[in-house]
Amino acid sequence: MIPKSFIQDLLNRLDIVDVIERYVPLKKAGANYVACCPFHTEKSPSFTVSQSKQFYHCFGCGAHGTAIGFVMEHTGMGFVEAVEDLAKSIGVTVPQEASTVPQHKVAPDLYDLMQSATRYYREQLKKTPRAIEYLKGRGLSGEVAARFGIGYAPDDWQNLKAAVPNYQDASLVETGLVIAGEEGKRYDRFRDRIMFPIVNVRGQVIGFGGRVLDKGEPKYLNSPETTLFEKGHELYGLFQAQKAIRAQQRVIVVEGYMDVVALAQHGVEYAVATLGTATTPYHVQKLMRLCDQIVFCFDGDRAGQKAAWRALENALPQLQDGKRLGFLFLPEEHDPDTYIREYGHEAFEHELDNSLPLSGYLLRELTAQVDLRTQEGKSALLKNAQPLLTAITAPTTALLLRKEVAALAGVTQAELEALWSIKPVATPQRSVAAPPKARRSAPSALRPLLRCLVMKPELARELPPDWAAEGAEGAAIAAAADWLNESADETSMAALIQHFHGTVHEAVFATAQGDIMHLGDEFDIAAEFSGLLRKMQREAVDAEIALLEAGGLKTPAEQERYRQLCEQRKVLKAPPS
Ligand code: UTP
Ligand code: MN
Repeated sequence: MIPKSFIQDLLNRLDIVDVIERYVPLKKAGANYVACCPFHTEKSPSFTVSQSKQFYHCFGCGAHGTAIGFVMEHTGMGFVEAVEDLAKSIGVTVPQEASTVPQHKVAPDLYDLMQSATRYYREQLKKTPRAIEYLKGRGLSGEVAARFGIGYAPDDWQNLKAAVPNYQDASLVETGLVIAGEEGKRYDRFRDRIMFPIVNVRGQVIGFGGRVLDKGEPKYLNSPETTLFEKGHELYGLFQAQKAIRAQQRVIVVEGYMDVVALAQHGVEYAVATLGTATTPYHVQKLMRLCDQIVFCFDGDRAGQKAAWRALENALPQLQDGKRLGFLFLPEEHDPDTYIREYGHEAFEHELDNSLPLSGYLLRELTAQVDLRTQEGKSALLKNAQPLLTAITAPTTALLLRKEVAALAGVTQAELEALWSIKPVATPQRSVAAPPKARRSAPSALRPLLRCLVMKPELARELPPDWAAEGAEGAAIAAAADWLNESADETSMAALIQHFHGTVHEAVFATAQGDIMHLGDEFDIAAEFSGLLRKMQREAVDAEIALLEAGGLKTPAEQERYRQLCEQRKVLKAPPS
């Protein structure tokens, strides 16, 4: 765990303009900086960066966030990775909270070694007609081979002696490139293989996959897990595909190195491969940050079917309403590589467009396992569906699937939820505590109120304890107040945006952030805030008074309440002290 105070400190020390400029050239425009948005295609710049407010906002596509959020969105790094990357950029180390395991340090020279090896393998490929012929035979051009840094490891035991300064160095074993055998004898892991470098999102080589040219076992030899390379976190080809994934707003997940490369050869540049492992929740999360649609396209064989189901299981907890997940099942004898080589780009994209949506795949598999004409079958359906559906937290997706499964089993949604002992979906969190109608605040004032709060989150402390208001804005304000009360740390606009990133309130805060992008820094936010708050309270009191008057003040309780409200109105109408 990274301590919360460190995140705050990091955001204070960074300048978002410097951070974004590492990736996107910015132009000064008035108080802000602008650029063409890196997250969608556009001709005139609507991507705006505020230096004084330390966040970015795109008026075209709505992308927004802090420096940390930008790095995550732009590179696909996870939160921890992004924090570490940014900390490193300003020369600070990330402290670890005591309870956690010590973090392994990656000596930078391990990356250098991988780079040297990559260069060496590429040179060897140029000198080896047999390897070039192999790649040509699989339909690859020199251009695509270069794009993926493909190389060749010659058929010798100690090739890398020629590539590194000291073959005996312990770090060579640490990278997995060299194996330490008995009696100090060392030899290369990869011999007589086509070499596919595995690259992280920063463009550093962290591992290799090596394929035999002829028959041989294993067909692919991969780098072992090392300090550089964690299989469940990496996706082959992501570095090369990032730009296309963002431009097309879609990514294809395939099984093999050659699938990624062959798809790119045929102009489908937004494919990535899992590295001989199942698709992990981490993979799904990473890809969902980059685009709206993920299509899993595994081989047509049994192993491919199994991989697809595993991907579905691991994707369920990561689902977000509005993001689409699909499954493309190719004919049994094909994988993406052979399919696109045989039928071409257009046919493949046509298949993609018709991929089976996750919900359809889930229901198809669930119903195929049971006989729904029988009581036993319906009961088995409910049992099998339970762990899958309860893993989904995306409200709309969860709701629709519960309805469908309930209908298939011949029960109501409420009965299904009772049976599984789960909460009904889509109950707005705050509605339980909602006050009587007359005390609700006018929504018109909520937006400016929220704007003030985003600029100066500590103002939420001034909200009365029983404060409640309608709608998404009201809920967001309440959530900000809860956040402030619970976290004793220093607060800032950047911290607030970061905290609500990925929550239901994110969109509301983003809109507020867009609103204030063009406001000056000079006006008195606190005064504006308390003015608005008083106005809203006054309106609420007035409304309740009107309601009581209309009812004729019949009971003593009503008369007492009326007297109280008139008192309150007097106080609220007095000029602020
Ligand atoms: P496949 O056996 O489907 O191979 O393995 P492929 O990708 O179609 O390879 P080509 O077309 O014959 O060259 C799919 C993926 O599983 C991993 C690799 O990542 C491979 O790309 N794999 C497979 C291994 O790691 N080791 C193996 O021995 C085989
Ligand atoms: Mn293949």
